[in-house]
Amino acid sequence: MKKPLVLIVLLFSLYLLPIWGFAAKQQQQQQPQQLRFGKDGEFKILQVADMHYGDGKTTPCEDVLPSEFPTCSDLNTTAFIQRMILAEKPNFIVFTGDNIFGFDATDPAKSLNAAFAPAISSKIPWAAVLGNHDQESTLSREGVMKHIVGLKNTLSQVNPVAHVIDGFGNYNLQVGGVEGSSFENKSVLNLYFLDSGDYSTVSSIPGYGWIKPSQQLWFERTSKKLQRAYMDKPEGQKGPAPGLVYFHIPLPEFASFDSTNFTGVKQEGISSASVNSGFFTTMLAAGDVKAVFTGHDHLNDFCGQLTGIQLCYAGGFGYHAYGKAGWARRARVVVANLEKTEKGSWGAVKSIKTWKRLDDEHLTPIDGHVLWSKTSAGSRRRKHIGGP
Ligand SMILES: *[C@@H]1O[C@H](CO)[C@@H](O)[C@H](O)[C@H]1NC(C)=O
Ligand SMILES: *[C@@H]1O[C@H](CO)[C@@H](O)[C@H](O)[C@H]1NC(C)=O
Ligand SMILES: *[C@@H]1O[C@H](CO)[C@@H](O)[C@H](O)[C@H]1NC(C)=O
Repeated sequence: MKKPLVLIVLLFSLYLLPIWGFAAKQQQQQQPQQLRFGKDGEFKILQVADMHYGDGKTTPCEDVLPSEFPTCSDLNTTAFIQRMILAEKPNFIVFTGDNIFGFDATDPAKSLNAAFAPAISSKIPWAAVLGNHDQESTLSREGVMKHIVGLKNTLSQVNPVAHVIDGFGNYNLQVGGVEGSSFENKSVLNLYFLDSGDYSTVSSIPGYGWIKPSQQLWFERTSKKLQRAYMDKPEGQKGPAPGLVYFHIPLPEFASFDSTNFTGVKQEGISSASVNSGFFTTMLAAGDVKAVFTGHDHLNDFCGQLTGIQLCYAGGFGYHAYGKAGWARRARVVVANLEKTEKGSWGAVKSIKTWKRLDDEHLTPIDGHVLWSKTSAGSRRRKHIGGP
């Protein structure tokens, strides 16, 4: 009697296995608060812009020194991510598009797997948005984004449910306060991800794509909802939690700076859409966004502040992407730190800092500076003070 019973139990378990797996996946997808600040009151984000991954070791590097060329391939991009992860030990990794260079990706799924492999094997949660080159192989933009969300340890999503929206890869992630603190169930830092498109589909408008009204409406609603929750009990706050926004193509407002008022370098033009779709104004009006992070222009790596919002490039990361020989590939790091509450536990975000690291022998950190701090910019809110 014993043997058949064991067999039945075993068979039944095998039968349930896929269901358990599915249930775990469902639960994972429904949990919005998977990211949270560490016990040290810190949350660190590594931004990787423009990997331009092709076929791996057979795909050569662009714009490296002649002496570097023979030994340089996509594998150098992989090695750079691995080194960055080891050096910074980020809590989260964001890939801001042109993850693969579709034209040179024979099998785009394979290229995507290889491009994200270092993030996946680090077991650090990661997210990605699309650039303008990701869909140039045999997968559409929707196909690329669907492939990405199926990869391990990613928090990427194709699109919000119950919203009719343009593009693929519009979603938000909440970063919870420290576990055990009175902010543990609050999102103290909000991350927004948008698809800035590839190219204009309007024949009278040349050039790159832009963030559409449907996406801006989703952003507005999401921001409002998050702000309401943040200002609600428990620990109702007076101002919104800071928001950070990630997408690929810079906004026209990135052209508002010169070397007197940015940190970093500008070595090429700002390749935004040829029209201004108003997303900067939308973010300004929402009131919670403190910084925007893009890629796309590999030779620009600056951050400049315009009316309270930092506009930042990460600088080119990938080796099969145009660059400048002798000018190191680089990545941007952002770290948010919490303040202590009166009771001595961790509270809201106090400051947000950034720096970059170069892919040189020592991963040299450069251009460290404060992006936002609660005391200086704080919960400054505009009030209507009457008048005509
Ligand atoms: C690329 O990687 C190879 C192999 O590790 C290394 O020898 C070479 O110096 C790297 N090139 C660059 C430009 O980093
Ligand atoms: C957060 O939510 C959990 C689960 O609902 C609850 O047990 C805990 O007391 C909450 N923490 C605070 C600070 O409200
Ligand atoms: C930066 O400085 C230049 C003048 O050097 C000025 O034209 C521009 O408006 C400034 N930008 C901002 C955002 O302050």
